[in-house]
Parts: sequence; structure tokens; C-alpha cells
Amino acid sequence: MSDYLLEAQDVAMHFGGVKALDGVDFRLKKGELRCLLGPNGAGKTTFFRCLTGTHKPTRGRILFKGADIAGKERHDIARAGMGVKTQVPSLFDGLTAHENLWLALRTVKNAAEREARIVDTMERVGIGALRTGILGRMAHGQRQLVELAMVVASDPDLVLLDEPAAGMTDSEVERLASIIRDLNRTHTVVVVEHDMHFIRMIADQVTVFHQGRILTEGHVEHILADQTVRDVYLGKKHA
Ligand SMILES: Nc1ncnc2c1ncn2[C@@H]1O[C@H](COP(=O)(O)OP(=O)(O)OP(=O)(O)O)[C@@H](O)[C@H]1O
Ligand SMILES: [Mg+2]
Repeated sequence: MSDYLLEAQDVAMHFGGVKALDGVDFRLKKGELRCLLGPNGAGKTTFFRCLTGTHKPTRGRILFKGADIAGKERHDIARAGMGVKTQVPSLFDGLTAHENLWLALRTVKNAAEREARIVDTMERVGIGALRTGILGRMAHGQRQLVELAMVVASDPDLVLLDEPAAGMTDSEVERLASIIRDLNRTHTVVVVEHDMHFIRMIADQVTVFHQGRILTEGHVEHILADQTVRDVYLGKKHA
């Protein structure tokens, strides 16, 4: 068994002539909280999609808990313990937060157990007060938290979050940071973010993507001070 919960080896994803990923080697230990940075189009979302089975990589291996999941079906990878919050929310607008979570947990057949899981998760993500709120009437930041709750509810071994702070207010971002730090006490988490303030609040180790490859990795303060990293971010929010 590998030392790593996740180990991507030479992963590439080409769309015609576009090399969205072009040889990514990435390792993650159980219990880590890792941030992925990189300018627009660097390949971060494509990497997540390869991990979750939305895309079948053009080449490479993706070892998750020791088994190669590259090219496997999405539902099989989810069942193996991969949870993802995507950049595009996938919620039922006409239903309440509680109803959305109830659906997210439909594989838990015992109703009392399902309800207990929902209550626990809502507590954890701090959305107890939104329980009977209709999704379609919630503020953007509240919806983001409900969607985070849907990922956490299924108790995955690895939680992938793609720009969870996007469009949130400063106070919502701070709250999200504390929720993610708390989540990391029990779960391994990978977060894609552009917001440097948010990254500084949660990150220790960061990995920088650029043009479909990993540019550099290391401690957050070291990476954010790195001139090459600052250069690839030119035109984006600066540290
Ligand atoms: N389905 C697709 N078909 C063709 N090209 C794609 C597809 N998905 C992504 N790409 C291209 O692959 C590259 C990487 O895109 P990706 O969405 O992974 O970047 P990203 O790092 O998540 O960027 P952002 O920070 O804007 O979310 C881009 O050039 C994008 O246009
Ligand atoms: Mg993206």
C-alpha cells in the first residue's frame, strides 16, 4: 500500500490540440489540507475532473487508496470515497436545504440514521438555521455552504472543493475558512482557490498549476513570495 491517499502519475488530458493537463505528478497524504493555485486555464478543474471520473485522462495513472482509478466510472470513484464540490452548483432550487441533503444521502436506507447524518452535517457546516430554507431563495454564500454540506454528508475519504469561496462576502469567506479547517481535522481536503486572503487562512502546503503542469509546490508563504508564481498570476489578484 502506498504512503499516499492519492498519487497521480504523469496525468495528461488533451482536448484535440489543447493540452489541458500535460504530465501532472501529484501526491497527497491522508489528513492533508492542500490548496491548488494557478491562473485561469491552468488545468485545475480538469485535474479534479480526471480525479472524479468526469474525464478519462489521455494518459497516466491515478492511484486512490492504492487502486488505479484513471478512466473508471464516476459513480464507482464516488463510491470509493471521492467527494467533490464543483465550480457549478448542482442543487435542486425548488427544494429546501434539508430536502437536498436527504436526496444526497439516499444510499443511507435507514431513515433515522439518515436524519442523524443530516443534523450532524448541518451542525458541522453551520447551516442549521437554513434547514427549511428553499435553495432558490438563498443568498449565493448560503447556497455554497449547502452544497459543501452535501459533499461532507456522504463522508468521503477525500474532499475536493473547486473555488468554494467564489462570490462570497468577506465574512462568509472567513466562516468558510473555519469550516474547512474544522473539516480537515477528520478529512483530507484539496481546495482550488484564487483568493489569496482565503488561502492564507487555510493553507499550509500549496501546489501551483500552470499550463497543464505543476509549476511548484511548498509552504504557502514561501510560494506566495516566489517571483515566478507572482509572474504567472499577473493580472490576477495579488498576494
Ligand atoms: N471540455 C473541454 N474541451 C476543450 N477544452 C477544455 C475543456 N475543458 C477545459 N478545457 C481547456 O483546458 C484548459 C484548462 O481548463 P481548466 O478549466 O481546467 O482550468 P482552471 O485552472 O480550472 O481555470 P479557472 O481558474 O478559470 O477555473 C483551458 O485552456 C480550457 O479552455
Ligand atoms: Mg477551474
